[in-house]
Amino acid sequence: MMSKTKHWTLDDIDWSVLKPDLVTAELLSAVKTAALVEANSADYVVYLNNVFKDDPEFCAVADRWGDEEIQHGEALGHWAELVDPSFNFKERLAHFRRLYQIPLEAEVSVRGSQAGELLARCVVESGTCSYYAALRDFSEDPVLRQICTFISRDESRHYRLFKLHAERYQKLNLMKRIKIAIGRVAETSDDELGYAWHAATARLEDIGVNYNREECAGTYNRIATSMYKRVHIDSAVHMVITAIGLKARGIASKVLSNVIWRVFQAKKKSYPVSASSPLS
Ligand SMILES: [Fe+2]
Ligand SMILES: [Fe+2]
Repeated sequence: MMSKTKHWTLDDIDWSVLKPDLVTAELLSAVKTAALVEANSADYVVYLNNVFKDDPEFCAVADRWGDEEIQHGEALGHWAELVDPSFNFKERLAHFRRLYQIPLEAEVSVRGSQAGELLARCVVESGTCSYYAALRDFSEDPVLRQICTFISRDESRHYRLFKLHAERYQKLNLMKRIKIAIGRVAETSDDELGYAWHAATARLEDIGVNYNREECAGTYNRIATSMYKRVHIDSAVHMVITAIGLKARGIASKVLSNVIWRVFQAKKKSYPVSASSPLS
C-alpha cells in the first residue's frame, strides 16, 4: 500500500490484473505515444533550468517535476510492453529522441518571459490532467486505469505547482496571457506528437524514413480526442481559464468549452474508436 506522503512508484501498480484482451489497437498506440512524450521530459528539465537559472528554488521544483514525468513514461511504457511484447520502450524512446529535440541551448523562454513560460506549463498540465482522466475513463483494462489515476493526480498537482510559482512573477496583461495560452494549445499539433506517434508505432525499418507529420499528428490527435467526454473538456477549460486569471464559471469558460467539444465531436465522427474492439 502506498503511503500518503510518498510519491507512487511502479511497485504500487497491481500488474497482475492486466487484461490485454480489453485493449484496442488504437488505445495501445495512443499509450505508446504518450509514454515517449512523457519519458522525454529530461530535455524540458534542462530547458527550464536554463530559463530559470536565477531562481534556484524553482530549478529544484523543476528537477522533481521532471523525475515524475519520466516515471509517467516508464509506467506507460512498461504497460505497453506487457500488452504488446514486440514493443521495446527504450529502443522506441531512443528513436524518438534522435528525431525530436527541443531547443536545449535556449537561455530565455520561448514564451518571451519567465511568467509566460510558467503560464504555458499550466496549459500543458491542464491538458495532460484531462487527457489521463479521459484515458482512465475510456480504458477497460484495470491496470491502465490505475496508472492513469496516478498520473492524472500528478498532472493536477503539477498544474497547481506551476500556477503557484507563476504568482511569484510579474503579472502579464490579460491579452498577453490569452495569447500565450492560445499559442501553447495550438502547438499541441506540432512535430513532438507527430514524431512520437511515428517512433512509437511505425515499423522499425520505416522510422525516420517515411515520416508524414500531418498524418502522424492527425491520427494521434483523432484517437486522443475520441476518448474525451464533456466532463474532461470542462475540467481542462476550467484550469486554463483560471490560470489566465479569468472567472472559471464565466462566459469565456462556457464558450470555450462548447467550441472545443464541437471540434472534438467532429474529429470523433471522422475517426471512431471502439473500446471493445479486439487488439488484433
Ligand atoms: Fe506527465
Ligand atoms: Fe505533469
